[in-house]
Amino acid sequence: MIDADRPAVILAPMEGVTDAPMRALQGELGGFHFAVTEYFRINQSRPGTKALGRHMPELSNQGRSVTGLPVQMQLLGGDPDRLAQAAEMAYRLGAWGIDLNFGCPAATVNRHDGGATLLKYPHRIRDIVRAVRQALPAAIRVSAKLRLGWDDLAAIDTNADMAAEGGASWLTIHARTRMQGYAPPVYWTRIAQVRRRLGIPIIANGDIWTLDDLRRCRDETGCQHFMLGRGALADPFFPRRAARFLAMGRFEVEESGPIDWHALMTRLVFWTQRLEPRALPRVGLRMKQWLRYAAVHGGFAEFEAVKRCRSADEILELLRARAVPSKGVGYAETQVMRA
Ligand SMILES: Cc1cc2nc3c(=O)[nH]c(=O)nc-3n(C[C@H](O)[C@H](O)[C@H](O)COP(=O)(O)O)c2cc1C
Repeated sequence: MIDADRPAVILAPMEGVTDAPMRALQGELGGFHFAVTEYFRINQSRPGTKALGRHMPELSNQGRSVTGLPVQMQLLGGDPDRLAQAAEMAYRLGAWGIDLNFGCPAATVNRHDGGATLLKYPHRIRDIVRAVRQALPAAIRVSAKLRLGWDDLAAIDTNADMAAEGGASWLTIHARTRMQGYAPPVYWTRIAQVRRRLGIPIIANGDIWTLDDLRRCRDETGCQHFMLGRGALADPFFPRRAARFLAMGRFEVEESGPIDWHALMTRLVFWTQRLEPRALPRVGLRMKQWLRYAAVHGGFAEFEAVKRCRSADEILELLRARAVPSKGVGYAETQVMRA
């Protein structure tokens, strides 16, 4: 899926956010090369096919959303054999690739031997990647998503080496340690060192909110591939502009007007109804979560009013009535940017 010569923009896995309805919507919006599912945790028992299918309904569509966006399954856990079994099961159900999570900072996950905890044990990272790699046919891609380390920025060197030695086709690196959580700064230059040493594609990740961030991240890392998470929520048209910027090496202003948040949220309800009707009672919370990112990091100015809404219908009504123009969001880059 990652082609060394072709730049790619990838939708970050975000637990509680990038579920199947959101992935379908992102496929509609365009820009992303592929998406990674939220993590699927593998603990003691073998997962059932139903649970895997619920987590990633795209499995029954050859690993693509109904809107055509390829989706990679992410697994999380500390036991190589169980992860290998789960990966094999996902492959049989239709997965084209498996991503392994070595970055989740959640305390409960870490206490149960998952996510960023593994960054303290580089050999275990190698053993997990290797076990999953060996359980799958060669055409099925295995990748790893890492933070820089638990509390040590330099740990990425050994951890990335181990993941590559285990047979990862590419690595995604979120340029922070586990102890940083989401606090600044991001250390993109650490990614550059790994990229120069390893012969596999590296996807740079962390705090890319604007085209200017993207350009600086590319310059600092030398990477061609980038994963966007919160930046894609703050400005839903950023991924498309990012993809064009990377493909063309320049970006020219597109005066396409303000973002129609009412239309976007209506599509989120549509895809939730269609793909995950059980989540409908929570769709209002999802909207608030999304609009909060747009308020804090984008140009959405109506969040105080949205916060007071008691249902998804109320939010939709508010967005429709105010036809909220998000000044600046999506159209902040007024200059022509050169690659
Ligand atoms: C709400 C939320 C949930 C996340 N869930 C996952 C996850 O399931 N798997 C994973 O590998 N990373 C997860 N992440 C980390 C993101 O994939 C990404 O690495 C991080 O947000 C930094 O990228 P950004 O600055 O572009 O958002 C999550 C991040 C957030 C904010």
